[in-house]
Amino acid sequence: MRFLEGTDSPNRLHLDDDLVIQADNAEVLPFLDNGAFDLVYIDPPFNTGKVQARKTLETMPDAAGDRTGFGGRRYKTRLLAESSYRDSFDDYLGFLAPRLEEAHRLLAPTGTFYFHIDYREAHYCKLLLDEIFGRDCFLNEIIWAYDYGARSKSRWPAKHDTILVYVKDPTGYYYDAQTVDREPYMAPGLVTPEKAAKGKLPTDVWWHTIVPTNGREKTGYPTQKPEGIIRRMVHASTKPGDWCLDFFAGSGTIGAVAASLDRHYVLIDSNPEAIEVIRARLDGQESHTPDLEETAVEAESVPEFATSLF
Ligand SMILES: C[S@@+](CC[C@H](N)C(=O)[O-])C[C@H]1O[C@@H](n2cnc3c(N)ncnc32)[C@H](O)[C@@H]1O
Repeated sequence: MRFLEGTDSPNRLHLDDDLVIQADNAEVLPFLDNGAFDLVYIDPPFNTGKVQARKTLETMPDAAGDRTGFGGRRYKTRLLAESSYRDSFDDYLGFLAPRLEEAHRLLAPTGTFYFHIDYREAHYCKLLLDEIFGRDCFLNEIIWAYDYGARSKSRWPAKHDTILVYVKDPTGYYYDAQTVDREPYMAPGLVTPEKAAKGKLPTDVWWHTIVPTNGREKTGYPTQKPEGIIRRMVHASTKPGDWCLDFFAGSGTIGAVAASLDRHYVLIDSNPEAIEVIRARLDGQESHTPDLEETAVEAESVPEFATSLF
């Protein structure tokens, strides 16, 4: 695995080894080759509205500029907007759009894009993604349902994230769910014992615990996603030896999963703390096949009340 910093000077970023890059993704993605990735997963900041004040800057190349970017290039910045709540929404899509266009460019002809978001922005992002990928390339809306934290008494407690799935070519994408972990039947008495023992393929609603606070995979990085849900995507949409990209990588969850399943990865994050977490998590990690204990955690995550409905 190689580590690069935003100021390291690249010509092109050739994929000869797993790669971790500390940089603003918008500055690095153009150095990667068209169609290089079989799977792109991103989990950007969700624009929760908790930080109401936000500045939107436009950057342009300028030798006398006030910022240094990837490869030591200088840029000047111009303040485009300071956000109110509504501007913050506009700003969010403006921030995402060029990065989503890069995701589309970088996806292999048979590749799949997984976009992780929550209920606040999911619908606006769906419209943007339809524009960039084409509506016919929309494959799924996956709901990741979990059960954690306080429950609102003034509205239905929000306990799910949304993962929008797009493919580059709706007539020729790779998808094979045979190796995906299976779930217990909700009414096992209604199917044969063989089927009950084997379990059923997951649907587009994934019940899965958040990262357990004292579990093996906990890194301490905020908003870390569980390996179990990422593993499903990697199993279904890639083969061993394929390349995965996450350019909002955080703690590097997709890197951990890809390495464990003999896939390659490129991880990008602008936060030095994220890179340190990734380094501690992945440097020297050997490939391994997930053991039964990991699969069992996923099976347990189907809530009891769901079972009792059937
Ligand atoms: C929601 S977290 C990702 C968590 C990750 N999925 C995990 O499992 O740990 C979003 C990440 O995006 C990073 N980020 C935000 N803006 C970025 C940018 N312009 N370029 C690169 N990374 C960025 C943040 O530093 C943060 O680590």
